[in-house]
Amino acid sequence: MKPFYITTAIDYANGSPHLGHAYEKVLTDVIARFRRQMGDQVHFLTGTDEHGQKVQATARKQGVSPQEFVDGISAQFEALLPRLGVTNDDFIRTTEERHKAVVCRLLQQLFDQGDIYLAEYKGYYSTRQEQFLQEKDRQSDGSWPELFGEVTEITESNYFFRLKKYQPWLQEFLAAHPDWIFPRFRHAQVAEFLKEDLNDLCISRPRERLEWGITLPFDAKYVTYVWFDALVNYYSAVADRPGVWPATWHVIGKDILVPPHAVYWPAMLHALGLPLPGGIIAHGWWSIRGSKMSKSTGNALDPLTLVDEFGADAFRYFLIREMNVGQDSDFTREQFLVRYNSELANNLGNLVNRTLNMTTRFAGGAVPAAADLLDLDRELRALWDKTRDEFLPLCEGFQFHTALERAMFFLTETNAYIEKRAPWKLGKSAEPADQALLRTTLATMAEALRLAVSLIRHVTPASTERIHAVLGYTPGPVWRDELVWGGKLTGAKVAEALVLFPRPAPPTASAKPEKKG
Ligand code: ME8
Ligand code: MG
Repeated sequence: MKPFYITTAIDYANGSPHLGHAYEKVLTDVIARFRRQMGDQVHFLTGTDEHGQKVQATARKQGVSPQEFVDGISAQFEALLPRLGVTNDDFIRTTEERHKAVVCRLLQQLFDQGDIYLAEYKGYYSTRQEQFLQEKDRQSDGSWPELFGEVTEITESNYFFRLKKYQPWLQEFLAAHPDWIFPRFRHAQVAEFLKEDLNDLCISRPRERLEWGITLPFDAKYVTYVWFDALVNYYSAVADRPGVWPATWHVIGKDILVPPHAVYWPAMLHALGLPLPGGIIAHGWWSIRGSKMSKSTGNALDPLTLVDEFGADAFRYFLIREMNVGQDSDFTREQFLVRYNSELANNLGNLVNRTLNMTTRFAGGAVPAAADLLDLDRELRALWDKTRDEFLPLCEGFQFHTALERAMFFLTETNAYIEKRAPWKLGKSAEPADQALLRTTLATMAEALRLAVSLIRHVTPASTERIHAVLGYTPGPVWRDELVWGGKLTGAKVAEALVLFPRPAPPTASAKPEKKG
């Protein structure tokens, strides 16, 4: 079986991780866990992008060597992953020998086959973006857009990749594969970009201008352009694992789709005779309280502050529930607390409390077998079947936010079922009919809870495990079999209580949770 190989972007090792980086890892982890639960053999890669002008400049400013600097930052990114519950199989750093060796091998191949050539370049260059500019990049008043920073005119010899030559092929490929980019509307953006004639891609930087990069194997006076180096990570990390390449999906943010992932990368692979990835998922961006996250304004949210306060599952749940993959979202602490309180603490938390409490009080702590089913029980079971049958395809199509909404609706209806049945009243009656109804109600509550948390396990893995444990339940090996309503808990001994999503302490006047300390 071809492994399901999924990757994240590799983060620039020039600053600490923020909410956007955490989101991408969590989203990719949710997909990876979902596919594993569906029976795929998953290989999940993430890592750090460590070369280039910005890293060299930041390290210099801090008075440390680039290697020392990236070692520190990369360690921060790697340490974040287990704190988020992320189950990556590998972590690649572009300063590792295994990566550099593959970059050199591929560059040499392209050079030998004539797809890389030396030429003189005269024109404008943005140091901040590490990019050559063209006349069309100017604003209408002739100035350069702010994002390019200082722009200088330079003349130098560089190596170029014959990107232009592959443009017709790429256009045809994309036209034939409208699902290659998710969400679909981003496809149009790529097609638009490809309407204009491409220039060949400059893939080198003279060593005198930039030292911190991979030396070109065919000319030691140059280092490799950082994107040409970085994109190769997806391949270099699995180059010695037969059968893993190509990636099934690359998960990235919308800002690096065009041109790096949707133009350079497929052209590079095609030129190298390597198979293309199955597709690219381009997620949207998080803003914080309406403004862009940036170091200069100090509003880059450190994901660990939320994880420390609410736990990884609540953080994961919020990100996945809130964002429609591909669209942008805004983060505020208020909205986080609304979902935390109403969906996790109330809806799920109450069902947990009631199930454990009622089973302990009225059934000696063992889940009873259901007696005769009435309409109310049948309706809840029917809703379960519908919920599960809609949930799985939604996850397959990355519509996790809607899938979670369905799961929440099922929990809401389960709580409503309990209100209607009022087991706390039935428990006080000695009537045999009431006792039978009580048994059915307790069995139904417990089973509904078991199923609901099985369903959202890829989003809230630790909570699902803890709830299963207090229900005296050990899930079987095949996830889909676990999603069938079927008295799997009959006779199980439950715990008396579990505090899962405690109410947060009210904020103090001095607390500034949106800011990074
Ligand atoms: O682009 N919301 O690295 P990076 C959501 N090294 N996602 C965000 C975000 C936000 N506010 N800010 C950034 C790079 N991201 C390159 C990638 S891949 C071969 C090389 C996402 O650290 C961003 O879209 O600037 C990207 O996918 C990832 O974080 C890393 O961004
Ligand atoms: Mg970036």
